[in-house]
Amino acid sequence: MKKIIFEQSIQHFFNLFKLDIWPNKKYAEKHEIKGFKLFGICIGNLCPEREAVSYAKNYFNGKEIIACEIGNFKGEHAYHILKKLNIKKLYLIDPYEAYEEYKHDGSYKDILEAKKEAHNLLRRWKDKIIWVEKYSDKAIKDIKEELDFLYIDGNHYHPYVDNDIKKYYPLLKKRGIISGHDFGKFWPDVIEAVVSFSKSKNLNFITGRGSDWIIKK
Ligand SMILES: C[S@@+](CC[C@H](N)C(=O)[O-])C[C@H]1O[C@@H](n2cnc3c(N)ncnc32)[C@H](O)[C@@H]1O
Repeated sequence: MKKIIFEQSIQHFFNLFKLDIWPNKKYAEKHEIKGFKLFGICIGNLCPEREAVSYAKNYFNGKEIIACEIGNFKGEHAYHILKKLNIKKLYLIDPYEAYEEYKHDGSYKDILEAKKEAHNLLRRWKDKIIWVEKYSDKAIKDIKEELDFLYIDGNHYHPYVDNDIKKYYPLLKKRGIISGHDFGKFWPDVIEAVVSFSKSKNLNFITGRGSDWIIKK
């Protein structure tokens, strides 16, 4: 009982100051995230970097890279890409539209608000960012160079995630990294797309305690 009151008070304290424990305990339980860390905290909406960025930081080891993220929303993950990696150029692809097959990030108004937040959050890197406000299948034409690092976090349903992996993979440099979010039981289409793609190319994929997936070309 004392333990529960203690945990609730901590949560209350964090909520009060718009801080959040990451992954939030309830979220961690709901999504069965193992290795819940009390000391990773979010300030406002900003959470600690995810596995693909940690992996890329180590892998590229300070080398200047060209990167791309499909699905930006409020720019929180792009923030980590820009902060932790040596980015020459970052393509940020998001239509910023609520459409029939993609509604879980809220209404049209919420999406426009997210776009405003992303531009605000990432403004210090504005010279490195190419905003591509299109659906990923159309945006691919705007990328006219090879990529070192790609992070896929757009529409998680089949055939979207499947197409994102298959169509963007050829843009990657040899020894580049393709990765993405939500490899977990709540997104079976992501699992299916990653597993079938890696099998078809005879490539290994890495997943960790979080929900990122990572494949080296
Ligand atoms: C889960 S959110 C991205 C979150 C962001 N990567 C982060 O972690 O901070 C998914 C985003 O994908 C965008 N999206 C949905 N369908 C898309 C598509 N077909 N192409 C590109 N982006 C898409 C949505 O507008 C939404 O902003």
